[in-house]
Formats: sequence, structure tokens, C-alpha cells
Amino acid sequence: MLTSLSTWIIVCLAYLLSVEGMSVSRRLQLREEVRKMFVHGYEGYMTHAYPADELRPLTCAPLHRDPDPFNSGVNDIHANASITLLDVLSTLPLIHPEAFPHAVQLVATQVSFDQDVKVQVFEMTIRAMGALLSTYQLLDRLPDDETLQAKQLGLTEGKVDVKKYRGRVLELALDLGKRLLPAFSTPTGIPYSRVNLKRGVEKGESTDTCTAGAGSLVLEFAVLSRLTHDERFETVANRAYLAIWNRRSPHNLVGNTIGVGHGHWLAPGQSGTGAGIDSFYEYGIKAAILLGDDSYLDIFHDSYAAVQTHVRTDDGFIYRSVQLRILQPANPSTIDSLSAFFPGMQVLAGDIESAIKSHLVFWNLWRNYDALPESWDWENRQIQWAGWPGRPEFVESTYYLYQATRDPFYLRVGERVLSDMVRRTKTACGFATLKNVETDELEDRMESFVLSETLKYLYLLFDDQNSTPLSNRVFSTEGHPLFLPYNLTKPSSAIRRELHRGENLVCPVYEPPVLGGGLVVGIERRPDYEYARHLVFGSGVDGRAAEDQHRTQWWEGGFCPIPSVPKFSVDIYLFPLDSSDQSPPPLEDTSPSSDKVSRDEHTGDFTIHKVDGLRLTVRWRLDNKGYDVSSIGPHRVRAGQQVIVRDPSMSGYLPIPSTPSTYSHSPAEVLMRFSTASTSGERQVILHAIGATAIFGRDFSRSGPGGWTLHGGHTKLLRPEKSNLDACRPLKTIPTPAILLIQRGKCTFLTKLHHAVKAGAAGVIVVGYPPSSNADTQQVLGVGIGIDDELGLIRPSAENEPQHILDTVKDAGMIYIDHLVGDALSTVLDLGIVQVDVELMGDANGQNGHAKSGEIVKGQASGSAFGRRSEERQGRLALGPWEIWNLKILEP
Ligand SMILES: *[C@@H]1O[C@H](CO)[C@@H](O)[C@H](O)[C@H]1NC(C)=O
Ligand SMILES: *[C@@H]1O[C@H](CO)[C@@H](O)[C@H](O)[C@H]1NC(C)=O
Repeated sequence: MLTSLSTWIIVCLAYLLSVEGMSVSRRLQLREEVRKMFVHGYEGYMTHAYPADELRPLTCAPLHRDPDPFNSGVNDIHANASITLLDVLSTLPLIHPEAFPHAVQLVATQVSFDQDVKVQVFEMTIRAMGALLSTYQLLDRLPDDETLQAKQLGLTEGKVDVKKYRGRVLELALDLGKRLLPAFSTPTGIPYSRVNLKRGVEKGESTDTCTAGAGSLVLEFAVLSRLTHDERFETVANRAYLAIWNRRSPHNLVGNTIGVGHGHWLAPGQSGTGAGIDSFYEYGIKAAILLGDDSYLDIFHDSYAAVQTHVRTDDGFIYRSVQLRILQPANPSTIDSLSAFFPGMQVLAGDIESAIKSHLVFWNLWRNYDALPESWDWENRQIQWAGWPGRPEFVESTYYLYQATRDPFYLRVGERVLSDMVRRTKTACGFATLKNVETDELEDRMESFVLSETLKYLYLLFDDQNSTPLSNRVFSTEGHPLFLPYNLTKPSSAIRRELHRGENLVCPVYEPPVLGGGLVVGIERRPDYEYARHLVFGSGVDGRAAEDQHRTQWWEGGFCPIPSVPKFSVDIYLFPLDSSDQSPPPLEDTSPSSDKVSRDEHTGDFTIHKVDGLRLTVRWRLDNKGYDVSSIGPHRVRAGQQVIVRDPSMSGYLPIPSTPSTYSHSPAEVLMRFSTASTSGERQVILHAIGATAIFGRDFSRSGPGGWTLHGGHTKLLRPEKSNLDACRPLKTIPTPAILLIQRGKCTFLTKLHHAVKAGAAGVIVVGYPPSSNADTQQVLGVGIGIDDELGLIRPSAENEPQHILDTVKDAGMIYIDHLVGDALSTVLDLGIVQVDVELMGDANGQNGHAKSGEIVKGQASGSAFGRRSEERQGRLALGPWEIWNLKILEP
């Protein structure tokens, strides 16, 4: 233990080492290296493989379709259409313009989609159609004059005419689109995964498809429709996108695999950000940007909130798969190389802070393996699938993050990727697939995205001339730039314009980390930089020692706090509170009348006239300042729109007093260990669990009577008599010191603790309700807040109570635990043969006191003038320490 602790101190101070920048000449040198790599791979393909779809980089030969029809890994993209050439078309003008005119000519004159091959709709769309559309748009913007064309393309030759091929290039895209259309003839509108380009959907074709495959066609199909004035493509792609979204879970999560005939999610019923789902989110935000269509933006924001709430881990770093309905993490819990696109997408969405964190995990994976394994079990720090086929996603995110932060750290990340790629995958004619990142074993395959995306984003990273695309302009998920000229955008309807009144979309500006003393530093000096390293490497001296492979070290060591992020999305109810009234909050009103909620047509603001049964969803603001109300029952509240509560029943509580909190220095959540002791004194640990401390009662950070404090030894766990399991009536005297395990409900937390103290207990552990029971109410500062969150812990509070009552329980501790944990403990206690002890191990969250799910809601007095009458009494609400910015309570 001692050795590991000293390691800790070193680990945590490592961020104080200085970071260096990168000179312009070095950056341009790296850009030149990328260019040479690209030319090497492209010329290798053209010399040894063209017109085949792919190059075999080890044998320097063409790779053809596999005669085995079940080898979909190859055949899905082998359409006998020179796919590698197609896919690099939009990269050539950027990196290797000399080759562009000939490449366009070859595509225009040689490629045909009239092939008797079964291919994947998604792959053909993103690799081939996207490239053709992007190339058409580039050609269309070239001047007619041949000298000017050459000049604009940056050619050394004097004259060239490539623009003449633009008609044919668009025709090819249209032809491909028509050949993919039969896939959409399904009862649900969700397309078949595969289609034969000549014969349409084949007999006996599989009806399973994945969310990403069906939901990431919108960009290409919409651009094709707008350019050709053939509405069919945009219509079917939009319908497919909505068909997926309309089948989301009650938590707004989409699954991985779905049946195109019946539209039900198929096993294993998981959601996440990786393979099978990934680009569904990406196309939500990118369709919103490209098409200027806010229905996609709404879907994106809802799906993103669901991911941030349920898929992201509490530390804010890992996005792992969860079961679609019960939200438990999948087993084994892995993250995959494809999901490394997510940070880049988060940058597009404006959530740079989250992007930095998730990117750091992939960065450490890269550092550990000198590549990115396809799939990695983050809980056991083990590779699940060891290959790396030169995927672009990590580099893509690095590019976006550099654009957003201009932190040279990201240039060095790119530099590392570049050198590892050259060292490990470069062959005589191209770049091979790493079959195993741990052994250097290679596979004779070069996917088209190695040239078209990975090297493109690397080049863009080192190239300061090219910044992030602006509005109506995006990179497709295959890295093809697409844009919509203004005259092809669609005006939004009057109804939509009215709904968006008052909306104020802003991109938060990136603020670099600042150390004490005001020193602005880089990403590598963020305190959580080393935490991300730990997630991947573990905590030994060489980063991989087995001695303390447990994440709990972050709690027990006490030196390196586990970071925690506030819950992204929380549902709350407001109601006037009468502390003598123990009735549950009113039932949810799912279609409130305009007497209850009204909307101002001029400002877009909402007024709540009656709070009864209104469910408000609050969402974390991307500027990291706190929360905003994002919906009131069925009404969506958009960024910038205000919510004003003018309910007479709430006015008795205004202004909301800012009482000094009686809350001590107790950690918000503690790690507990439950063990049994035999008569011979032998101890067996039966369970570890996290509990939430109450905001009243004993301060666990200090020692006190009864022995129940942090690191304070074992205390016996007992249950009260069967007739009084909730401790709402006076309890029988118990031998001290002991902790009582009691049920939640029927009376206040304070009452329970009061009875326990009277009976001589050192404290109580309160067991939460089973997941299906009704949301409980919390009373805070005169305004009741019911938190509708079945899964999280809540912190018992009693702030309404007079101080002299609180004083009677100030030495007794109260900890709240999840129902499941309580159930397990009860089962052991029911056996009655062993004594169960509880021990407080330490702070479950380190020093970071961020709001957790179900954290208490605190009123804050506000003296500033607001509203039309400055003397108007008003109040604001906050969730834990975080203010709800667009919600105000005013006197009616
Ligand atoms: C590939 O396509 C070309 C024409 O584009 C055709 O002549 C050739 O027969 C095709 N090859 C196969 C194996 O289908
Ligand atoms: C859009 O504008 C471009 C020129 O800026 C023009 O060439 C094109 O025909 C226009 N398209 C439509 C549909 O009006």
C-alpha cells in the first residue's frame, strides 16, 4: 500500500511538468510528411491495384471480391467500381492535386455501378456517393477557363479541363442512388443493410440492420436530392432516420440492431456511441448544420443528452455500452476504436470540455499500444479485439479539438500517430492493416479510408490554411466535404420560426486551463490529464503493474480524487411544500392546459401559472455554468428562452431565503465496506457500496462518539423490529454502538434519525425505494422538489427544521443507499447466523463536490431587479451548487 501511495503522489504531480509548443516550420514539415505518405499510398494503389477496389499492401497486388459470399467485411464495399479511387477523389485536390484531373477522368469514363454485386447501402453511400457529390460540387465551382482551372487547383501545368466531367460525376451519384433505393422498400422505411446493385434486394436477404447504417444516409441523400431535384432520396433517408429515432427507448436511447420489417430492437439490445450506432448522432448534428433543419438539431440534442446521462460514466471520461432498457453497463464493458469519432462530434456540438475528456482516453490507449485496438475492455484494461485497420476516427477528433482549442498538445498527438503509422504499417506500396497492435502482425489489406480520411485529417491537422467548415458545410462521416449553396436550402415554416422565437444558439468559447496564480497552461496540465492516463495504464510504476489495478485506489489513496461531472439531464417537479403533509407529489400532467403553462409569442418565454404535476427537465449547459430548463412537460424550451414561475401557491416562499447550510464537511458520497466476522475473528468482505451522506447529522470527516466515522473501524449493522422497519415510530433500545438498516418512506429522514438516536444507535443507513416506485419528494427551503430519478442516490436533507431539533441528531450519521444494496444486506441479515459490520472506507468522489443525480435543490436569494417591477419578489433555484439559469420564480 505504501509503495502505491508514493506512486500516487508522483502520478498526480506529473502535470506540473512544463508543456512545449510546436514551431510553424515543424508543423509544415509534418504536413509534408503526410503528403508524401499519401502520394506513396495513392501511387501504390494506382500502380498495383487499380482498377480493383482495394490494394493489397503487403503483396502489392489488387484485392478483389471474395468468392465466399459471406465475407461481408470485404464484399460490402467491393462493387467493382474502383472504390479506393472514388474514396480519395475529395482528398486529391487538397494533398495531391497533380493526380486529380486524371483521377476524375478515370472515374467519369471507367466507373459503372451496373454490377451484379451485393454491397452495403451505408458503405456505398458514404464512400462512393459522398465522394462523387463532393467532387461534383468542387468541379461545379471551378471557373470555365482552362488556365484558371489549373491555377485554382494549384497545378504546375498551365491548362486543364476537369470541369467538363461534372455532369457525368453527378450522373454517377444519381445512378448509384437509384440502385440503392430498393433497399428502402420496407414496412418501416428502415432500409435493408445490403442490396444488389443490379438486381435490388435479393431473395432471403437479412432483415437485420444497424442504427448507424440506416441513420447515416441523410447528408448524401439530401445533397443528391437537392442537386438533382429528385426528392426521393432525401425523403427515404429522412424517413429512415425518423424511423430509427421514433423507436428510441423511454430514456431517448437508440439500440444497435433493428429489424427492417417489424422495427423492433434486436439482441443484445444495447446503446452506446460505438460500432453500429456511432454516426447516427453525427448525422443528427451534421444534418442540422448542412440543411439548416432544426428538427435534426432537436433530435440531436435529445439523443446527446441521453448519451451524456446514461452512457457516459460518472467521471465524464468513458462512453460505454449500456442495456437499452435497464441502463446497466454491458458485459464485458468495452469501448471501441470507432467511438473515437465522438469527441470530434462533441466539438461540433459545442461541448468542448466533454470532448477533451473522452479524447484523452483514446490518446492514452494510443500511447499504450502505439495504435488504437478495435475494442478494449476498460474495466479490466484488456484488449478485446486487437486489430487497427488504419481507422481515421481518433485523428479526426484530434483535428477538431485542435481547431477548437489551438492547443499544441493536439499537434503532438498527430505527430505521434504519424510516426507510429509510418513505423508500423508502411509497406513497399501502401499501408497495411495492423492485425494485432500488440505483436506488429500485419494483414494484407488497405481500406480506402486510410488514404481518404486518416491521412486527410492528419494533413488538415498540420495545415493552418484549412479551418473547420462553417454553416451549411460539413465533412461527411467519410470525410467528404459537402455543402449546400444558399439557394438549395429550404426556408423554415412559420410554425417553426415561431417555436424558435427567443432562441439564442451560441458556441461557448474555449477557455484553456488556468493554474493557481493565473498561469494559462495546456491540456497536459489539466489536473485530470493524469487521471485519464490512469484509466488506461493503471497505477503501477510502469503504468501496468498489477498490484493495484482497482479503480478504487482513487478513493482510498485520497491523493488523486476521481473527477466527477454533474448529471447531464435531470427531471424535477416543483410544488408548494407543507412540511406536515407527507403525501406524494401530484401525478404528472402530460398535457397541461394553457392555464398552467403559456408561451409568449413575442419573446418565446414560458410562464408557469400552476406548477401542479409539471415535469421539468433540466439539462447541463455546454458552457459548464449550470443547468437550463429544456422542457416543461410536452413543451420544449430552447436555449435562450426563459421560464418564469408565477404560481400564487409558491409566493409564500418568496424571496427564497439563503439560509446558511447546516451541511458539514462530510463527503457527499462515501464508500462503504460490509463484512462478516466469525467468532474466531476472521473477516470476510461481502459487499462494497457507495452511499450518499445526509446534509444534516454527523460530519463524517470528523471523529465523534459511537465510532462511525471515515476510516473509523467496524460498526455492527442491525435491523429494527419487523413492525417498525422504516423507523417512523420510536424504536426499542439497541446495544451500542450499532448502525440501523432502515427503509425509506412514510416519515421524514429527520424523524427516522431522531428515533434511532433515542434508541442508542450511532446512525442509520436508509435503503432507497425499489426502482419502480414513485418519485420521492425532497423538501428544501420551503420549495418542494421531487426528483424523478429512479436510479441515482439522493442526499437526505432536513433544511426546513429548526436548529434545536437538528442539534439532537448532530452526532448520528445517516447514509442513503440504493435499494439493490439494501436488498443484498437484508438477505444476509435474514440468515441470522453471522454478524454484519459496516466500515466507512472514504470519500467516494475525492474532493470534488459536484452535484450528483438527485442532489438537493437549494434556493438562492437574489436581490437584483428582474422583471417589470423592480420591487417584485423573486427567487432562483439551483441543483446542488449549480444554478438553473433560465428558471425564475416571481410573485404573481
Ligand atoms: C467490372 O466492371 C467492368 C466494367 O465496369 C466490367 O467490364 C467487368 O466485367 C467487371 N468485372 C467483374 C468481375 O464483374
Ligand atoms: C443556385 O445558384 C447557382 C449560382 O450561384 C446557380 O448556378 C444555380 O443554378 C442555382 N440553383 C438553383 C436551384 O436556383
